[in-house]
Amino acid sequence: MNTRNQGDQLILALSKGRIFEDTLPLLAAAGITVLENPETSRKLILPTNDPAVRVLIVRATDVPTYVQHGAADFGVAGKDVLLEHGGEGLYQPVDLNIACCRMSVAVNAGFDYDNAVRQGARLRVATKFVHTAREHFARKGVHVDLIKLYGSMELAPLVGLSDAIVDVVSTGGTLRANNLVEVEKIMDISSRLVVNQAALKLKRERLQPIIEAFQNASKQQG
Ligand code: ATP
Ligand code: PRP
Repeated sequence: MNTRNQGDQLILALSKGRIFEDTLPLLAAAGITVLENPETSRKLILPTNDPAVRVLIVRATDVPTYVQHGAADFGVAGKDVLLEHGGEGLYQPVDLNIACCRMSVAVNAGFDYDNAVRQGARLRVATKFVHTAREHFARKGVHVDLIKLYGSMELAPLVGLSDAIVDVVSTGGTLRANNLVEVEKIMDISSRLVVNQAALKLKRERLQPIIEAFQNASKQQG
């Protein structure tokens, strides 16, 4: 099978898990059904009921990269991921209102964050979201040493790696389970449809109805 993205093909990049699950109803609204389940299939390119449409399964953080370089025509990515990527080469036509959460600062339950900030203390902050964290603390005028992690940020304050973390929070269950408290919300997060800018021009006829179907279906959900 030729796996290169060609003119007559539409390639969608999605990550497994919540984004894939939450995108299925939007695809259904556009008449597209994915024919294999990424949780059980080892395939990374999944067929759909439309032979011209295929779905790439990639890491959530890699979705913008595949779309930026045109290896995928469109994709779905969280605002958290898009802010770290920078959004270059991407058109972001629709906030899909899926995978909703917030980006927050959290600390050990016993740590007086407000006081540390007032005192002008230099904070060690562990996060996967270094760009967002840097901007947030710069805006507040707080000096930070950022420690880049790739997951399980909640562990860092527990073992003394950092004073604080910047991570996404939804129910707050993970923070509670690890005796951490949310001390500051940085922003609300949801996932967006991202489209390769060149593909939008060259494949507009195929892409536009899908973008509109996603737009309408996400409005109904929200
Ligand atoms: P990667 O696999 O690349 O490390 P990830 O594990 O963060 O990424 P997911 O957990 O699938 O990937 O999250 C995808 C998106 O869903 C995130 O970018 C974020 O926007 C959103 N998200 C993350 N955690 C939650 C949550 N607990 N509830 C709701 N939405 C969330
Ligand atoms: C995300 C995030 C937090 C958790 C927050 O992890 O990294 O740890 O969700 O959600 P909560 O406030 O409802 O507990 P996820 O469940 O996606 O695990 P992963 O990052 O390891 O995929």
